[in-house]
Amino acid sequence: MVNLAVMGHGVVGSGVVEVVLSHQEGIKRHAHEELNIKYVLDLKEFPDSPVADRFTKNFDDILNDPSVEIVVEVMGGLHPAFDFVHKCLCAGKSVVTSNKELVAAKGAQLLAAAKEHNVNFLFEASVGGGIPIIRPLSQCLAANSVLEIAGILNGTTNFILTQMIDENMSFKNALALAQERGYAERDPSADVDGDDACRKICILAALAFGKHVYPEQVHTEGISDLSLSDVAFAKEWGGEIKLIGHVKRMENGQIEIIVCPMFVKKNNMMAAIDGVFNGIMVNGDATGEVLFYGKGAGKLPTASAVVADVIDCMKHRQARKYLFWSDDAAPDYVQDYLDRPTAMYVRVSGNAAEQVEAVFGHVRWLANADAASGETAFIIEKPLPERTIREKLARLADMGVCVQNTVRLLHFNAEENEEVIA
Ligand code: HSE
Repeated sequence: MVNLAVMGHGVVGSGVVEVVLSHQEGIKRHAHEELNIKYVLDLKEFPDSPVADRFTKNFDDILNDPSVEIVVEVMGGLHPAFDFVHKCLCAGKSVVTSNKELVAAKGAQLLAAAKEHNVNFLFEASVGGGIPIIRPLSQCLAANSVLEIAGILNGTTNFILTQMIDENMSFKNALALAQERGYAERDPSADVDGDDACRKICILAALAFGKHVYPEQVHTEGISDLSLSDVAFAKEWGGEIKLIGHVKRMENGQIEIIVCPMFVKKNNMMAAIDGVFNGIMVNGDATGEVLFYGKGAGKLPTASAVVADVIDCMKHRQARKYLFWSDDAAPDYVQDYLDRPTAMYVRVSGNAAEQVEAVFGHVRWLANADAASGETAFIIEKPLPERTIREKLARLADMGVCVQNTVRLLHFNAEENEEVIA
């Protein structure tokens, strides 16, 4: 029998307890051993829980019990999660977490501690909730060189954008609906500002390219500046707006990485990912494009990924799983986003055709989606370094043109998909 401790009894933690209790037979069949929840760590009381007698408020009960071999961390946040997880690894216990903030900020350090103490540190649930992505990326696609990854990595913002696109609902009302349905937190900033998606693309980038990428190194924009005009102009262009995390390895060894809303062509598989669903597209040199799709959040999908990692730890008690990245990237490993070439949508007030063409030359004009607003929009179709586009937009502003908003175009697997930016 293997003893487990679960740190945190919120949505995911209670889901982990539920999945472990309801899948005893299946777990035993896979791991050839029984799994026993010995402790649940939480400051609150849960007298109605089927494991009410195993609750503790004292982390040391877990740390100092040598019979606990595997610890699940689902408390969230960096503190005290980092301290607890690090101590458990150093005490020779394997740790499984769903905490993307922890993995994105401290993954390299915790993987090194796991390696040093010959235990496992697994985090399948930290990206894409119930969607298998960490294991496929580190094992099933291991014979590939990953070229790039683009993902819809946040269910809350995808739900909001879907409401704006399909129901013509304003950002404010769609956010209120997401909060009413329990998708968005009362303080929704981590989701709507793109921070949650940023942590997830950092984890995927580290796994795919072997070096830790810190969220502070990634240019991140959220969705709160998008208007229904942008949504309508995107339709006119032939696509939809999605919040995308994108990372690509460059020939010089740098990576380009960004999180921001992007125009996605209707015929791109990412455009079909709606509501709270997530989708992650990986382009491998041998496989070509592979798409992972499913529920990226929620109690049971996330708990199922956590428990699958626990089963993996049970099966690898003597042999550590090879999951590792280093923290030794060169200072310029992440390319300045202003040097990243991109095609761009631009929305301006009034008719500025003469000034726009004087500055940018030929652009593609989009039919006025909402004539009443007096706004026009155009697409800079030929990718230019973003710095060049920003300089030209500043020249437009000097000519009296008011730029209302800009949105980048998704540019994925460009050689194969010329039409993506056509
Ligand atoms: N807030 C996240 C989302 C939860 O909306 O996707 C899962 O990380």
